[in-house]
Amino acid sequence: MDRRELPIGIMDSGLGGLSVLGEAVRLMPGENFIYYGDSANAPYGIKDKEEIRQLTETCVGYLVERGVKEIIIACNTATSAAVNSLRETYEDIPIIGIEPALKPAVLGFPGGNILVTATELTLREQKFRHLLHCYEGKAQIYVQPLGRIVEFVERGLLDSEELTAYLEEVLSPWTAIGLDAIVLGCTHFPFALKQIRQIVGERTAIIDGAAGTVREALRQLERRDLLTGRSHGGIVETIQSGSDGEWLRRAKELLDTRK
Ligand code: DGL
Repeated sequence: MDRRELPIGIMDSGLGGLSVLGEAVRLMPGENFIYYGDSANAPYGIKDKEEIRQLTETCVGYLVERGVKEIIIACNTATSAAVNSLRETYEDIPIIGIEPALKPAVLGFPGGNILVTATELTLREQKFRHLLHCYEGKAQIYVQPLGRIVEFVERGLLDSEELTAYLEEVLSPWTAIGLDAIVLGCTHFPFALKQIRQIVGERTAIIDGAAGTVREALRQLERRDLLTGRSHGGIVETIQSGSDGEWLRRAKELLDTRK
C-alpha cells in the first residue's frame, strides 16, 4: 500500500485531543485520521509517570497496529511521560508531541504576566521544567494546575455551576495581578474556553498549543513526502477505550464546538 494513503493516528487520555483533531482536520482536510481516546483510563494527569507511559504506549501500539503514517500525541501529559521512549521504539514513524504554548505567549507578551495552566504531572515533569528554563527572565511566568477541568469535559459537565465555581476559586487570585496571557497546557482545557474567558475577561489572551502542534505534524509529513496531496474528503474515525455509546455523541458535540 502507498504509505501516503495511511491515516494519521491521534491519541489522548480521552476527549481532550479532539481540540487538536479539529485543528488537524482544518489544516489537512484531505488526510484520513484515526483518533483514539483512552477515556477508560482518564484522567492521566493525576497518575504517576510510569503508569502514564505504559498507558500511552498501549494507545500508540494500537494505532501503529492499525497502520498509520504519523502519530500525534494530543495530550501534554502523555507527551511529558512518553514521547522520548516512543520515539526510540518507533524510529520510522514521525511522533509529534504537544507542550504548553509558552513560546507564542512570551513572544506575544515579552515582559508580561503569563499564567501557564496544565495537569499536575505536566507541570512537575522535566520536559516542562526545561521549557520554563528557556523562557525564564523573558516574562513573569506563573504556573497553576487546573487538572479538574478534565473531569468536567469527560463527564459532559461544562455548563455546570460546579465548574464555574472551581475556575473562579482557582483563577480569580491570578486575574487580580493582571494577566496578559493564559496558556492552556492541556488539550481538554480549550473546551472550557467560554467558562475561562468569563473569569479572566476580554483583555487576557488565551493561548493553546493545538495549531502549533498540527503545523509541526504537517511539516513532518511534507518533509517525508507523506501527504495524500488531496485538498478535501479525508475520513475521521474515532475510537475509545471502554465502551460507552454516549462517548461518540459527546465527541461529536465537542468537535462541533471547535468548528
Ligand atoms: N488532555 C491531557 C493533556 O493535554 C490530559 C488530561 C488528563 O489528565 O487525562 O494534558
